Formats: sequence, structure tokens, C-alpha cells
Amino acid sequence: TAAPLPYKVADMSLASWGRKEIDIAEQEMPGLMSIRAKYAAGQPLAGVRITGSLHMTIQTAVLIETLKDLGADVRWASCNIFSTQDHAAAAIAETGTPVFAWKGETLEEYWWCTYQALTFPGDKGPQMVVDDGGDVTLLIHKGVELEAGDRSFVDGKAGSEEEAVIQQLLLKVLAEDPQHWTKVAKEWRGVSEETTTGVHRLYDMMKKGKLLVPAINVNDSVTKSKFDNLYGCKESLADGIKRATDVMMGGKVAVICGYGDVGKGSAQSLRGMGARIIVTEVDPINALQAAMEGFEVTTLEDTLGRGDIYVTCTGNVDIITFEHMQKMKDQAIVCNIGHFDNEIQMDRLNTSDAIKLEIKPQVHKYTFPNGNAIFVLAEGRLVNLGCATGHPSFVMSNSFSNQTLAQLDLWENRDKYAVGVYVLPKKLDEEVARLHLEKIGVKLTTLSPKQADYIGVSVEGPYKAETYRY
Ligand code: NAI
Repeated sequence: TAAPLPYKVADMSLASWGRKEIDIAEQEMPGLMSIRAKYAAGQPLAGVRITGSLHMTIQTAVLIETLKDLGADVRWASCNIFSTQDHAAAAIAETGTPVFAWKGETLEEYWWCTYQALTFPGDKGPQMVVDDGGDVTLLIHKGVELEAGDRSFVDGKAGSEEEAVIQQLLLKVLAEDPQHWTKVAKEWRGVSEETTTGVHRLYDMMKKGKLLVPAINVNDSVTKSKFDNLYGCKESLADGIKRATDVMMGGKVAVICGYGDVGKGSAQSLRGMGARIIVTEVDPINALQAAMEGFEVTTLEDTLGRGDIYVTCTGNVDIITFEHMQKMKDQAIVCNIGHFDNEIQMDRLNTSDAIKLEIKPQVHKYTFPNGNAIFVLAEGRLVNLGCATGHPSFVMSNSFSNQTLAQLDLWENRDKYAVGVYVLPKKLDEEVARLHLEKIGVKLTTLSPKQADYIGVSVEGPYKAETYRY
């Protein structure tokens, strides 16, 4: 087959702007920078082929350059059609790292980019994968299953436009080379997964006995989900809605669907600007938490006609249905901050009799026959990455330190790991937090030996039992 392309990005003239912002981000990412300082000399990932599928932002550029500093041979794609920051992609391409990502890809382009990112010269696949949402993992698994004779995915009725695109890609590759995915998967040794939704997919494959490689669930490091999902969304949700609409948040009624980590951060984000928050939940524990925080908790149906802003944060499907949107207050804003766009019934809205008007890219007004209109942001995809620039560097340094430590651990212990889904040990979780203290002037108290003994921990940690929930 033809040699893989060197890169494909929107505009290489943005590279120097991207580089300046990467320089700023490095100052805010002490975890990644100290991992570089500690490990670069030893080159623990020397020559290891790593494919990344994770929002191609400035912060991700710092992750990519960290992996490269440790010796890795990296190829990258974004994990969302709208989340690439074109100046970040250009800066990475300029260093000679193959990156395939631009803001505003079509679904065909998105899956083409993913395919490019996992095709190394010589028809080789990755040895390691950094995934966010599990699309690389999904593609390789579906390809290998197909080549092993399981046609159920490609012959099944596509559940969405995107699934049809994946089916076509798999069939095209199969026609060109019936052993392609088997070759790609041959030297694959592990994946580290960034987000809640991707982690669900991994556990599901594990349960069905289909998982091919050991996986580290980065999301459930405390220094990931209790920081990125929570404090990251706290800052980036309001940013996304503001950049898209400039709407006044104070006094508005905002409906937060789902009160997990992302929902908690999202509720705080809009409350911080004076919005009045309503939460919807299915889990009595989370519903009670929201109520104890002072939020009204009710069903979505109950909010129709009074909600001004709707945000889905569940990682679940069909949260906001077409019927809900028809009954919303005129000028309501609808957006999603969960990983996939199926939280809102976008397919039904787009094929309905509502008239769609583009205000600007990623901001659309839909007018219903009765004259009422709603605004949908980022076409139902993650609003913080589609309409703003995602989470700030400091919080992503925590997430990506976990990613890097997961890659190091999986690679170093590749012959010891059995196929399964693992989380990093608490000691490393505490280490990631520790790396971020100095930057913000935090002074830790040291346990006396008597105190350590009294609470049954060691002076150096870990400080909590595995059951502790933070
Ligand atoms: P989580 O599991 O902590 O929270 C989801 C919550 O939604 C749960 O409490 C669940 O009970 C609730 N829920 C499920 N179905 C519901 C329904 N029908 N109605 C109301 N509530 C319902 O998950 P987490 O970590 O908060 O992640 C949520 C989503 O956000 C995932 O897709 C994740 O991948 C994504 N994510 C997005 C980020 C971003 O920057 N945009 C950052 C981190 C995660």
C-alpha cells in the first residue's frame, strides 16, 4: 500500500501562533513537564509506535510532545469533528509528527483521519493507543472481528449516519487487504482510555470477551475524573455557551441533565454566573446530592416552558428528545457536554419540519412551524470543545500526567499484563496531585509517625483506602 501521508491539517501558517500558545501551556502543565524531566533521559518509550485519538488542542500538543520526549513515535487524530484547534495541529505537524485533524471535519474525513493516525509506515499498526471515547479501539476491534469472519457489524443496519461511515470504511479496507486489521493489531500491546464513555465501552468489550489488549482506565484516576470532569467543565461549559451566544446567564433557568462529575461541574459553572439551576437524574444518590447542594431536581418534562438553557451531561442516549425540543420555551439554548452527540435527538431534529439557520459555525437556530425557535450549539456535540477551547491547561496536566504514566506502565509491563481493564495505583494518583501543588502555592502537612500509625497509613502515603470516594 501507498506510504502514509506526513500530515493533514487546516493551515500550516498557524504553526507559529500554535507554538507560542504551547509555550504558555507548558508553564501551566507542571505534571507533564516534571514527567519529562524525570524520564526523558531514560527514553522509556524509545521507538514505540503510539496512535493517539484525542481532541487536538494546545494541551494535547503538550501531551504529544511529552510522549515524543520519552522516545515515542507518535501519530495523532482528534476524537471529535469540531474539537481541533487548528493552530495546535499546525504546530505539531511542523515538528514532523504526523497529525490528521482540523476543525469541522465531515464524518468521512473524521474516520479517514483516525485511519491515517493508526497506519504507520510499512503497514504497521500502533503498539500503544491513547484513546478518548474509544474510537481507535473500536475501529481496530471491528476490523479484526470482520477479518475473522464476523460480519455482524458491517451487515447490520447502521444505527446512525456515523455507524454507516464506519461500516463503509471497514468494507473498503477489507476489499483492499483482507488481512489489514490483523496486521495492524499484531503488535498492539495496550490502550489508555481518557473518558467515562470510552471506559464504558472497554468494560463492555471485556464482559463480552472481545477485548484484545490490556487497558488502563485513566478516567477513574481520582486526579482525572474528580478534576477534569468536574473543575474542567466548571470553567469550560460557561465559556462554550458564552462564545457561542453571548447570552446573559444571570437569572436564566439552566437545566443540567445528569449530576455525575461532569454534571456537578456544569451546574457549578452556570450557577457561578447567576443562573438558576434545575437538575435531572435517574440515580437517587446523585439526585439527593443535587438537592443537598440547593438545586431543584425534577424531570425534564417538568422543565419545558421554563428552561432557558439545557445541558446534557449523562453519557447516555435520547436525553433530550425531539418532542422535548418542540415544547421548549422560545429562544431556549440546547447543548451537550457528554462525549457523543446522541444525548440530544439531533437526527430527528435535522430531518423534521423545523427550519435550520446557521448563525455561525457550531451555532444553529431551529424554527418550528408554530414560530418558536431554539438554538443548538456544536450540532449537539461537546459544547466546550466545539464552541470554546476545552478545559484549561492546568487541569489537563492532571489528566495527561495519568495518560503518560499509564502509557509508561503498560509498555514497561507489557509482558505481565493480562487482557483486562485496570486503574493506576493510588500511589501514582497521589503523585500526580503532588506534582501540581507547588505551582499554585499549596503547602502540605506531613503526618507524624504517631499520626500515621493512629490512622493506619504510611507517612509517605497512600493516605486513603481503595474504598474512599473523595
Ligand atoms: P457519570 O457517570 O459520573 O455521570 C453521568 C450521570 O448521568 C450519572 O449520575 C447518571 O445517573 C446520569 N444519568 C444517566 N442517564 C440519565 C438520564 N436519562 N437522565 C438524567 N440523568 C441520567 O459520568 P461523567 O464522568 O459525568 O461523564 C458524563 C459524560 O461526559 C461522558 O460521556 C463523558 O465521557 C463525558 N465527559 C466530557 C467531558 C468534556 O470535556 N466535555 C469531560 C469528561 C467527561
